[in-house]
Amino acid sequence: MKIVIIGSGGRLGAALARALTGKFDVTGFNHDALDIGNIGEIHACLDRLKFDVLINAAGLTDVDLCEKEPDRAFRINTEAPQVLARVCRDKNARLIHFSTDYVFDGEKREPYTEDDVAKPISIYGASKRAGEESVLGVQDRHLIVRVSWVFGPDRPSFIDGVIRRAMETEEIEAVADKFSLPTYTMDIAEMLPRLFDSNVPGGILHFCNSGECSWQSYAQHALDCCHKFGVNVKAKTVAPVKMENMKNFVARRPVYSVLSTEKYKKLAGGAPRPWRDAVADYIKSHYSKT
Ligand SMILES: NC(=O)c1ccc[n+]([C@@H]2O[C@H](COP(=O)([O-])OP(=O)(O)OC[C@H]3O[C@@H](n4cnc5c(N)ncnc54)[C@H](OP(=O)(O)O)[C@@H]3O)[C@@H](O)[C@H]2O)c1
Repeated sequence: MKIVIIGSGGRLGAALARALTGKFDVTGFNHDALDIGNIGEIHACLDRLKFDVLINAAGLTDVDLCEKEPDRAFRINTEAPQVLARVCRDKNARLIHFSTDYVFDGEKREPYTEDDVAKPISIYGASKRAGEESVLGVQDRHLIVRVSWVFGPDRPSFIDGVIRRAMETEEIEAVADKFSLPTYTMDIAEMLPRLFDSNVPGGILHFCNSGECSWQSYAQHALDCCHKFGVNVKAKTVAPVKMENMKNFVARRPVYSVLSTEKYKKLAGGAPRPWRDAVADYIKSHYSKT
């Protein structure tokens, strides 16, 4: 099976490229090799290739930057995925396109299912939601995989910022009134080949680690794991702060965007592992020298 990965230099794309190479015939394009904001470049890179599955892990993912540069956000997160979907349709290939929990407004207080109405409250969320619609509008056999709070070894994320700060100071704080779920890139890489099977129906699928947490409880667990696995951090506890005090946020963010993985559970015959286990695994393998 031939797989093409776009965004293979990113946090998720790099993890996918590493994990899938060897098991499949993988061709990766990082941002330097292919700018998906340029439709001519998309055709120049992809028209000559034969492939069965195209994975799009590229996107404009900086939520505040999207707010400042909406045209760019919609070009990369909406228009480019539609072009990719058309290229896949013409080659009889499946597109697996990644999206986000930020398509929801956060007003619900129980996990969002794939059937819940998406009502984005930021340019990032709106551009990603429009991207989902533009992909599925081309062909309903394509797949949208919504993930949340992605972390992994290939590019620092929230958890790495917490650990870096905790190495320097005892004073750590994190937002305690915003809830979602971390998603480990290595767990996405492990589950993804399941979706290469053309018998898996197209549409939207939620995937994240199991449970529910705030940024504060996520950060606290990261510190607890550091202490357990002998990672040299000074801080022991994470103080709570309110989202309304995050004055440097430009874009609005949903306060509750936990994704339900019930649909995935039925498909896979089991739930993704708990977020606490995934975080512990990451810290042990990426930070601990023991
Ligand atoms: N990170 C999260 O917490 C999170 C949460 C929910 C959903 N997601 C979704 O998961 C997917 C993967 O995100 P990630 O965490 O891996 O983010 P990431 O590390 O920012 O990866 C995105 C990649 O896209 C590339 N890119 C940006 N503009 C591009 C362009 N015009 N042409 C080609 N490549 C371009 C970036 O390259 P440069 O860095 O060189 O610009 C980067 O390598 C995205 O669809 C994102 O919306 C992420």
